[in-house]
Amino acid sequence: MTTLSFIHRFEPASVAGRPPVLLLHGTGGDENDLLPLGRMIAPGSALLSPRGKVLEGGMPRFFRRLAEGVFDEADVRRRANELADFIAEAREAYGLAAPVAVGFSNGANIAAAVLTLRPEALAGAVLLRAMVPLSDTRVEAGVGDLGGKGVLLLSGAADPIVPAENASRLAAILKDAGAIVEHKSLPVGHGLSQADVTLTKAWLDGFQGNSPKET
Ligand code: MLT
Repeated sequence: MTTLSFIHRFEPASVAGRPPVLLLHGTGGDENDLLPLGRMIAPGSALLSPRGKVLEGGMPRFFRRLAEGVFDEADVRRRANELADFIAEAREAYGLAAPVAVGFSNGANIAAAVLTLRPEALAGAVLLRAMVPLSDTRVEAGVGDLGGKGVLLLSGAADPIVPAENASRLAAILKDAGAIVEHKSLPVGHGLSQADVTLTKAWLDGFQGNSPKET
């Protein structure tokens, strides 16, 4: 494996023309966790899967938190920039187009932070159980920064970690910043369900360039 600034796994594309996918795991996961999901939702795509650098009681994460749902925002900014730099390195090393992020939980939250702080790093994003990563995200992003990038946000109606209001606020922030956001609330909790897999695969199948293809 090429040595880059994050421990990671990379699987090259086997089908031309599919967008590369950046897989971002949840708390306690690692670079191996989401590869099987990646192969299911994006068959033939290049898969890039880094391991979060922050440890919480030995569990890898992508940024520090003070408590569940209470983030160390200075660290969120630092880590989002670090991850965006890694994406640029990996694109150079592996000859990749800008990837679509697929993040779960903490991985979805760092993807939302990268989208707003370093929009050029990602072609779009699938955010599974994401919440607002920065309290002043709206100010930071400015209006129009996301310039038509596609975002699929899948929330759980019975999620004990992400309040419905918070997920809706994230959708509104991303829309205000110019993203084309599809937000669905599924009848599930924080964990992933078959519906997440089916909806994510369908959305990625329709993904062309920055935004999902009109169907
Ligand atoms: C986070 O810390 O990013 C969220 O609370 C989700 C989690 O990792 O539990």
